[in-house]
Amino acid sequence: MIDLRSDTVTRPTAAMRAAMASAEVGDDVFRDDPTVLALEARVAALLGKEAALFVPSGTMANQLAVRVHCPPGTELICHTGAHVYNYEGGAAALAGVQVRPIESADGLLPVESLDRAFHDHCDAHLAPTACVALENTHNACGGVALAESGVRLVASWARARNLALHLDGARLWNASAALQRPVGELAAPFDTVSVCFSKGLGAPVGSALAGSHEAIRRALRYRKALGGGMRQVGVLAAAAAHALDHHLPLLVHDHRRARVLAEALVATPGLTCDLTRVQTNLVYFGTEAGHPFGALDASGRPALVGLLAERGVLITGSATRLRAVLHLDIDDAALGEVLAALTSLRSR
Ligand SMILES: Cc1ncc(COP(=O)(O)O)c(C=O)c1O
Repeated sequence: MIDLRSDTVTRPTAAMRAAMASAEVGDDVFRDDPTVLALEARVAALLGKEAALFVPSGTMANQLAVRVHCPPGTELICHTGAHVYNYEGGAAALAGVQVRPIESADGLLPVESLDRAFHDHCDAHLAPTACVALENTHNACGGVALAESGVRLVASWARARNLALHLDGARLWNASAALQRPVGELAAPFDTVSVCFSKGLGAPVGSALAGSHEAIRRALRYRKALGGGMRQVGVLAAAAAHALDHHLPLLVHDHRRARVLAEALVATPGLTCDLTRVQTNLVYFGTEAGHPFGALDASGRPALVGLLAERGVLITGSATRLRAVLHLDIDDAALGEVLAALTSLRSR
């Protein structure tokens, strides 16, 4: 099967497995795993922050940031489609933090909406705002890379109100490749930044949270409290380091292939795709109203999902939209097979 459901489905390459097997390890809860410490120092330097912490998942990295920035009973402002709001199992609520989502088409947060969402400490009815979070690339908005001018506006709005700023940079590597800007520059406006190694970079596990020494000192305590303290985890840090060494430069190929796929989708009768949104490796698309591709099957998925699966291609889909994701395990030959599957649907 050609698996386009997510960029998290990649399998570690033989070279990555070799790097993992030969990693020097220690006990990371004692903070003496040299491979983890080296990865953390490298990520901190890349992102232009004082320190970083290796964690099991992007969800944990984001939720550590929520706990670092938001005392219980305060509010976090983010986008309505943000991962930190929708897809982290209500974890912000478990931290006693109320999320105040803001809608926008491009993943940014318009200043007028921020003004309406903001609560200071003056009115006792209201939970005070503690932090603003952005996501780059923005998954729900189509994998778009956030416009830097828009990020700067949000950052200066937040700074003027003494609010913390967190970036969910699960795919910041993709934003950097798409915008041709160093990750450190994209990370600069933020107090904390999470990044993932287990998505487009192709590591089996692992994310990091970067920030000030003080933020990471506190995140380390929360990581332990949440059960994220791992022992000889240098084997996983070695996979992440290998991904930075060898897979980072390959992201542009995922983006190129995503574009080719999106153009083929547009050329397929019954399918729609907004090409302006296909800026990185995520391809969101839809079906024309009333077209059989969009008829829901017994599990509530558009028929196209099953038709492609019959042809050896896996995608995800809901009643409202479909998604195909390009990643390390999809080369030009595999893309060719996906395009052939689409062509066979056209002539059905
Ligand atoms: C934008 C974004 N942030 C965070 C995460 C969470 O990552 P993880 O699955 O490692 O918890 C994801 C996962 O897909 C994501 O897309």
